[in-house]
Amino acid sequence: MGAAPSRVAGAMAPVGPTAVAPALRLDDPLLRAIGGTPLLPLPRIVAAAGGGFEILAKAEFLNPSGSVKDRAALGIVRRAVEEGSLDGRRTLVDASSGNTAVAYAMLGARLGFRVELVLPRNANPERVGRIRAYGARVVFTDPLEGTDGAQREALRRATEDPARYFHPDQYNNRSNPDAHYATTGPEIWRQSRGRLTHFVAGVGTGGTISGAGRFLKEQQRSLEVVGVEPSGPMHGLEGLKHLPTALRPSTYDGRVVDRTVRVATEDAAEMRSRLAEEEGLVVGLSAAAAVLVSVEVGRRAPGSVVATVLPDAGHAVDPLGGV
Ligand SMILES: Cc1ncc(COP(=O)(O)O)c(C=O)c1O
Repeated sequence: MGAAPSRVAGAMAPVGPTAVAPALRLDDPLLRAIGGTPLLPLPRIVAAAGGGFEILAKAEFLNPSGSVKDRAALGIVRRAVEEGSLDGRRTLVDASSGNTAVAYAMLGARLGFRVELVLPRNANPERVGRIRAYGARVVFTDPLEGTDGAQREALRRATEDPARYFHPDQYNNRSNPDAHYATTGPEIWRQSRGRLTHFVAGVGTGGTISGAGRFLKEQQRSLEVVGVEPSGPMHGLEGLKHLPTALRPSTYDGRVVDRTVRVATEDAAEMRSRLAEEEGLVVGLSAAAAVLVSVEVGRRAPGSVVATVLPDAGHAVDPLGGV
């Protein structure tokens, strides 16, 4: 490294000590459209697996920027604005494998703060295009270092210029699991009318599984929480982490997760096609992996009601081709 710190293109002139930071208005209809997604049954996938159980899948791809990450990003931004660490003069900088970046970029454009996202160079071009469409700046890191490398670079930038940057660090920010504890968990509980026996969710930052899982366990002590991870460190399940070989996010609460099932990318790809053809749902590979594990869980526990999360719709073309 050793390169001079880069400067934000089009940065505003320095603001004097007497200038008042523009207020960020959190009371906005677009922000209120985050969450409240439907919980969808998957009758044909269940019937093909022999029936005798239910899967209820939370359609998070219906959030305004297209993924479950709208919830965490809004939780993080809301707390930062309320605490005074984010205003219209500061730039939010963070690392993301894609969806959080899009969510931050949307919030920045809507509320009026600058956003700089650090992501591995092999991030999906469609995602990068969406981030840039919202006017956010993209900084690429070495793809071989994955999201861990992006995390280190975001931290380096924020540490070098703390007055300019607000660095929420989604992998270690309590507002991330708290958002799922406050919204995703209660919604699933209400929508399933308290009939759940299992909760299955992919692990990226761990915010979804830790926050929603903790809430659901508090309602139903016998509920089993199952984490979904990729089968190895090199994988195509965008958004998920192979925890044994990754930097462990503090947003992941291992006490909530009863067991972990690891999924191969090819198996998730097959389920992805089936979800489109048999249930009318075009989802990402991490969503397909979560459904695959939900089927396995349901098969082994007749009468079970398994809730899971469909984090996003993936891409029109993914690394494995097709849907
Ligand atoms: C597509 C996708 N699936 C799953 C996840 C995992 O969610 P969490 O970070 O809450 O563990 C993410 C997070 O980035 C994601 O983008």
